[in-house]
Amino acid sequence: MIPPIILDKMESNRNRYVDELLSFLKIPSVSTLSHHGADVRRAAEWVFNSLKRLGLQASLHQTERHPIVYAESPPLPDKPTLLVYGHYDVQPPDPLDEWVSPPFTPQIRDGYVYARGASDDKGQFYTYLKAMEAIMAVEGGLPINVKVLVEGEEEIGSPNLGPFLRENAAILKADAVAISDSSQFVQGVPAITYGLRGLSYLQIDVQGPRFDLHSGSFGGMVQNPIMVLTNLLAALRHPDSTIAIPGFYDDTLEPAAWERDEMASLQFDEGRLREYLGVSELVGEPGYSPLERKSARPTLDVNGIWGGFSGEGAKTIIPARAGAKVSMRLVPNQKAARINALFRAFIEGLTPPGVEVRVTELHGAEPVLISRDQPSVKAAERAIEIGFGKAPVFIREGGSIPIVNLLAEILGSDSILMMGWGSPDDGAHSPNERFFLDDFHRGIRSAAALFYELSK
Ligand code: BES
Ligand code: MN
Ligand code: MN
Repeated sequence: MIPPIILDKMESNRNRYVDELLSFLKIPSVSTLSHHGADVRRAAEWVFNSLKRLGLQASLHQTERHPIVYAESPPLPDKPTLLVYGHYDVQPPDPLDEWVSPPFTPQIRDGYVYARGASDDKGQFYTYLKAMEAIMAVEGGLPINVKVLVEGEEEIGSPNLGPFLRENAAILKADAVAISDSSQFVQGVPAITYGLRGLSYLQIDVQGPRFDLHSGSFGGMVQNPIMVLTNLLAALRHPDSTIAIPGFYDDTLEPAAWERDEMASLQFDEGRLREYLGVSELVGEPGYSPLERKSARPTLDVNGIWGGFSGEGAKTIIPARAGAKVSMRLVPNQKAARINALFRAFIEGLTPPGVEVRVTELHGAEPVLISRDQPSVKAAERAIEIGFGKAPVFIREGGSIPIVNLLAEILGSDSILMMGWGSPDDGAHSPNERFFLDDFHRGIRSAAALFYELSK
């Protein structure tokens, strides 16, 4: 339960919470684009200052790239400790011309705030800060110990988080970890996420002749790098969407019968999803439902491709080079390193003479499954029921959050509570990303309720 005076406090501060979120969303903290380096730093300082204003012991840690912000509440020796994680970095906002309002000029329409990072993840993790603020304003302290860790490199695979966790393992020790960087099952059906897929992300570069050639003068004598690349890409998957790399499926753990039953019992509206996505059909691996395919089965996708001439009109050339970004979503017990090696061997084996093909590993994450049979998970369930007025369903998600493996591997934490306040149609990574403000406030209540439920 949340004491009623704290709920009152939250009610009367709703507008200010939103105003603060809007000012946070104005900072274009795009971690992958180096020209936004200073903006990413500004977002880190913004988070650092909010934590300091709460009266927490806060610090800002430089890394090789983007800072990590850490803070903790005054210690209560007899109380459990919760580590709250979030990321203040965001994905690039392009294509810009598809945004109704500019990505870093937040606008409220129909109860949603529209901005890059609104849902992923600024708006979601900020709920914990406002929950702490309301409780501390009324009670002078929190019912548990809270440690807050906010990074600026999640969207680039958290390259500097592992070393930070290793160096600060003793300081970061906690009984449970709360991460609000996933989503509800659908808006109005809150969820606890107990599984994530892993990720192998690679780049293929194909180099042909030294420079673009006249396709009349040289066509018929040299390899065409785009043709080589597209042949390689086409070979990666069978027409039925299954992945053709030998050994790829060796370690995949089948979803358990109870999981398949549970997924089948969720009210999944395929027609509505098709309409939202603007596709005539959902497709994927035979023998599995769409929900199973997007959470409990591995996939391979081309994320981008380039090469040759794509401007106005026609230009008769054989391009010098071509390239593509390819990523694979992994499920337990696949290992990113092994999948990368299989991928590389497969591409090398199919490379024809006359070109040079290079495979580069960009980043990755391991798949995870969290045990639901833990007291902290029960506390999370009750907290969501208090905050949303509805018990959560349990889901596995298709995305990846690198810290989840790092926590298990480095801190030995298996009590990881992934509670998403966002929704699948928030448009994370897409144009017109948004976050439903009622769910922002429900998230604040759920975060407060989690502190109280864990204190019992
Ligand atoms: N918040 C997402 C992860 C996510 C997405 C969780 C959907 C649950 C449902 C996170 O910010 C993200 O986008 N992660 C990247 C990971 C990567 C860059 C290593 C992803 O999944 O592509
Ligand atoms: Mn995220
Ligand atoms: Mn993301």
